[in-house]
Formats: sequence, structure tokens, C-alpha cells
Amino acid sequence: RSTVVVSPATLAFTAVAKNKNDIVTVPTGYTATVLYRAGDPIASGVAAFANNGSDTNYAQRAGDNHDGMSYFGLAASGSAPDAGNSTRGLLAINHEYINPQYMHVGAPTTAADAAGVQRRPEAEVVKEIEAHGVSVVEVLRAGNTGAWSYVAASALNRRVTPNTPMAFSGPARGDAQLRTRYSADGTTGRGTINNCANGAMPWGTYATCEENWAGYFARSSTDTAVRTAAGNARQVTSMSRYGVGTSSRYGWETVAPADASSTIFTRWNASAVAANAADGTGDFRNEPFTFGWVVEIDPYDPSSTPRKRTALGRMAHEGVMAGRMIAGVKPAFYMGDDGRNEYIYKFVSATAWSAADATASNRLATGDKYLDTGTLYVAKFNADGTGIWLPLVFGQNGLDANNARYPFASQADVLINARLAGDVLGATPMDRPEWTAVNPVNGEMYCTLTNNSNRRGVASSSSTRAVDAANPRAYVDTRTDGGTNSGNANGHIVRLREANDSTESLTFTWDVYAFGARANANADNVNLSGLDDTNDFSSPDGLWFGLPTNAAGQASPLLFVQTDDGAYTDVTNCMMLIGMPGRVGDGTTKSVTTTSGGTATTTTRVGAAPGAKLKRFLVGPKECEITGITSTADGRTIFVNVQHPGEDGNFANITSNWPQSQATGTGTGRPRAATVVITKDDGGVVGL
Ligand code: FEO
Ligand code: CA
Ligand code: CA
Ligand code: CA
Repeated sequence: RSTVVVSPATLAFTAVAKNKNDIVTVPTGYTATVLYRAGDPIASGVAAFANNGSDTNYAQRAGDNHDGMSYFGLAASGSAPDAGNSTRGLLAINHEYINPQYMHVGAPTTAADAAGVQRRPEAEVVKEIEAHGVSVVEVLRAGNTGAWSYVAASALNRRVTPNTPMAFSGPARGDAQLRTRYSADGTTGRGTINNCANGAMPWGTYATCEENWAGYFARSSTDTAVRTAAGNARQVTSMSRYGVGTSSRYGWETVAPADASSTIFTRWNASAVAANAADGTGDFRNEPFTFGWVVEIDPYDPSSTPRKRTALGRMAHEGVMAGRMIAGVKPAFYMGDDGRNEYIYKFVSATAWSAADATASNRLATGDKYLDTGTLYVAKFNADGTGIWLPLVFGQNGLDANNARYPFASQADVLINARLAGDVLGATPMDRPEWTAVNPVNGEMYCTLTNNSNRRGVASSSSTRAVDAANPRAYVDTRTDGGTNSGNANGHIVRLREANDSTESLTFTWDVYAFGARANANADNVNLSGLDDTNDFSSPDGLWFGLPTNAAGQASPLLFVQTDDGAYTDVTNCMMLIGMPGRVGDGTTKSVTTTSGGTATTTTRVGAAPGAKLKRFLVGPKECEITGITSTADGRTIFVNVQHPGEDGNFANITSNWPQSQATGTGTGRPRAATVVITKDDGGVVGL
């Protein structure tokens, strides 16, 4: 039994210095060990990863570019859940995207076929597709205090890929916009892609979030064909609003497969095919509408079909975090839409929480109960420190067929085109909403706003936005290498407190927990949170609360902040900090003058300077992003992901040798994204 301490005096570790070493650095007294690397086999009979570009069969290996991640405790043996088991569990891990420059023997190739059409080779693209998705892998600690390993031959291991069958669930299931050649009735889809952040649902499932899916599609700029039987030019507008462009990121749609009946490549071509049916069921015009969802996976059942939860809206989903679960109260799920000037959302279930559901045996049916029926809201931040949640409900506030800007046909249409609905409602454009996290003690919600190169003193084009109270900075960030970054180069972390501290509330108050900045930046207009060399950071992205209990039986909420930075990289690799939260309103108002893109002075709300309650805990290897964080129930083990080490190099010019370099700082061979285990050498609780 523990008592809760909201904010102990200091964190019990010495801050790690900023550095550019090719190593994961953790504080003295802690050990970081590499656990699960891109390419590692997860089934018996799969060859060890050669890491020279010759490897195949990523559907039975760890995918690339690990991202969001959750730990699910297992009973001592078998597949039954035991959330409290801190020595055996399942890790569910997103594989957001790939670094193809390291995936093949040489560079990725494209060549002209006999007709002169440029095509990618099938064998390369199969690997690239299968290296996306999600891993579920069994992890085990030797004894109670020994080394962690993943169990390569576990029957519980699973890879979910862009080819894995999925079911649509919620209000948009069966909608005309989801009809494709694969699913003529719009009830199923294939796979998940660009899985960025995540959430652990309180009933024991994993929610994975589809972020930059739009970039995987190619669509002709002259394609104005109707996409449903009814016809809907608005859908063409939607393609543009969500960023579906004329060329795809990896050119998968160009493959001419050996089996001409295969559609796993042509599905990425979202243009109309004249010979096919007008309603979209003859081709893959509607395929982009089948992505951009929160996908729920039962990690304990490898044969289960994942469900795309359409009630939570379609966007560039970053993560989904449950608010406090209180019996008899409708729970909320907080979500960021990561794009410049996009919005923050919450979904409130129609059903109040029943504590018995935390251990219900049919986990996906429990997901149906809480995630298929309810109301999606989008946030509007007012200058006076208040805010309001605006409902995305068809027929209300202009979300109807008569809307001059974006006519809507139904509730399903509103959810499929949530960004358009947010535009109509007047939601506040934010500086790229990434992860959401909820303080488990008081329910306050934090959201990383990673940076925004399109924030200006004065809006100067359709893609820029002027500073406002919740996004108050636009400045010139000068690098030590002579370069500059502009807009909001370093990002900030906004937090909000629901009225009555209730997940059901439709109003809130807000302030900024911390502004990212160089420690030596101008304190009046840039380093507003007074960061120093022990805690200065840039571009916060990963964000998560743990609630570990110390030796004295005191539980304390710890905020983990991870960075994905392109600004402060002249000084340091990306990092993870640990913070002890204060409360919304514990600071002051400050007036901020803009120096980038027109002069403006904005009053914002700055939380109390974090000081010694925010410290750098980890610095990653070269050219990486630190993203993905989870903990065992006892808080004695945390798992952290290193994404895209050496991303600026390629097979012929390797710029990081991590994780081979982890022991000494030097090594050989191609870099690999990986999960790292961190424990305290005295066996204690991480951070306390
Ligand atoms: Fe995949 Fe918004 O980070
Ligand atoms: Ca992210
Ligand atoms: Ca990154
Ligand atoms: Ca990011």
C-alpha cells in the first residue's frame, strides 16, 4: 500500500550532460542494455540478422524505427495477463517507418521497365512494407533481478504489418468512403502504417496510432473522379487537406508483381482507374480513407483481428492516452494530430467506467464498449488561460450538408474528415501536437508541441499562423554551426486541467509546463522556463507519466519527456528527461515579443520554472530520436526506444554504428533502431 506524493523535492539522480557520443548515456548508478533490435528474429527457424542488406522476411523479425511502446504483464507461465508481473511480459512496439538506405545491399533501386515506366523491384518493396507495423514480443527477466531478454521463439510473439487484416469498428464502419476493391462493403481493411505513438488501454490492450500515412500514397493531381456512388468533390478537397500528394515516399505503388493478381502494391495508388466502378469498389481510390485511425490490438491473443476505432476520428494520429479511470465517470482519451497548425482532440466514451472491466477476459469487446460510442471533441485555447472542447457532432455548429466550406453528409463523414470539422469549429491551430500524457494523480493532461516552422509573428501565407497565447513564440534560433532555425524552433509542452478535474468536462484551464530552449537563449522571449544545462532540451515529442513507488512506500508521478530534434543537434543528440509535475496555474503570465516573421507581443501562461524537478536522464546515440517509453509495474525497469540512429548516412557512408557502439562508443556495421532496457544498479526504482 502506498501513499501518493504529488511532488517530492528533487529527483534522485545526477543529470546527464549533453553530448554527441554514439552511445545511450544514462546517469551514474544506472545501466542501459540493448534488448530488441531492428531485424532480430521473433520466430524459431528465422536466421540471425546479418545486417548487410541481405536479410529478408521482416514479417518474422523486428521491424524498423521503433516508436511508441507499452509493457503488458504476463502470468509466470502461459498467456494469461498479470499486469503486476514485473519480470515477464509482452512488449508491444510500433515500427513507425524505415531507413531504406540501410535495408538493402546497396541503395534502394528504381528502374525503367520495357515500356519505360519507372518501377521499384518487388523484393525490395516486400521488405520495406513488412518492416512497418507493430511487434508484440515476450520479454523475460532472469530471476527477479537479472538480465532482460526477449524470447525469440515465444508462441506469443506477433508481427502486425501493413498486410495484416483489420476490422473497422464504430460509426464509420461500412461508410461509402471506406469501400475499396479489398472491402466492397467498407468493413475491413489491410494493415496499419506509420505507427507513431500509442496508448495502453486500461482493459489490457494496445492502441497504435497511424500518423504520416498520407505520404505512402500517390494520386494523380488531375484525378477529380467521384469517390462514392453519391459523388463528393469534398473528398478530393480532403485528400489535399490530409496531404495525399502526387508522389509517394517509397514508390511502392510502382511495383509490377510477379503475381499479377496481388494488390499489395497497387493499393498505394489512390488514383481512379477509368475502367473501374464509379463507387470506388473497383480500385483503391478510397484506400487513403482506410488509414489515419487509432488501431486497437489485443497483445495477449496473437490470432485476434485488430480493430480500427473510427469514433476517435481520422487524422495524423500521434498517440492516445486514457485520462484517469474513475468508476461511474465517462473516461476520456486524449490525442494529438501531428501536423503544423493541427489540433488537440479528446474522445469521451458514452459509457461510464466499470472497474471490473480492467480485467475483463474479452478485451476487444471491452474496447467496443468504451471506444465505439461517445463524442469526439477538439480543443480551443483562449488567451485568458481558459479553453473549451468543441464537439465533432454531425448537425451541430455547422457540421452539416449546408456548410459552405465543407459540407458534411453524416457522423461517419465528420469522423473520417475530422480535420475539416476542426477547421469549421474554429479549433486552435497548435505547434504540432505530438504525444499526450495524463498525470495519474490529478488527471491534468500534458501535450508536447514539438516545434513549428510555420509559426510567425504575423501569418504570411495559407500555411503559416500568427503567434497566440498557447503558441506564443516565433524567433530566430542561432546555431553554433552558423545555421538558424525559425518559427517555434524548440517546441513546448502545454498542459490543461479539466473543469472539476473531470474527464467529462467541456471546459478547462491551461498553461505551459515548459518551453524548450537553449539554456543560454534570451530569457525574456525564448528560454521562458528558465532551463539550465541540466535540463535544457528542444523538440519534445515522446511524453509519458509513470507512478513508481519508492522504498518509503510513497508513489510519485514522474513525467518522461523525449526529444525528436533537428534544432539543438549542433550541441547534443536527442534525449530523455524526467520531470516532477507541478499544477496548471502554478506559474505566472509573461509577455513575449516575436522576432521571426513580423513583430508581435503575446501574453502567455508559463508554469513554475521546473528547476531541479526536471533533469536530463538519458542522451541517445548519433542522429537518433528517443521515442517510446514504458515501465514494469514495480518501476524498477523502464524500456526506451532509440529510433533512426545514423539517419543522415547510408550503407556506403555509415554515420552511426549504434547499437554495436553501445559498450565503448565505437563499433562497426550499420546502425539499428532498438529497444533499450534501463535498470538501477542497486535494484531500486528508476528516477527515485
Ligand atoms: Fe511520428 Fe509526430 O512523430
Ligand atoms: Ca513522435
Ligand atoms: Ca525523428
Ligand atoms: Ca516528431
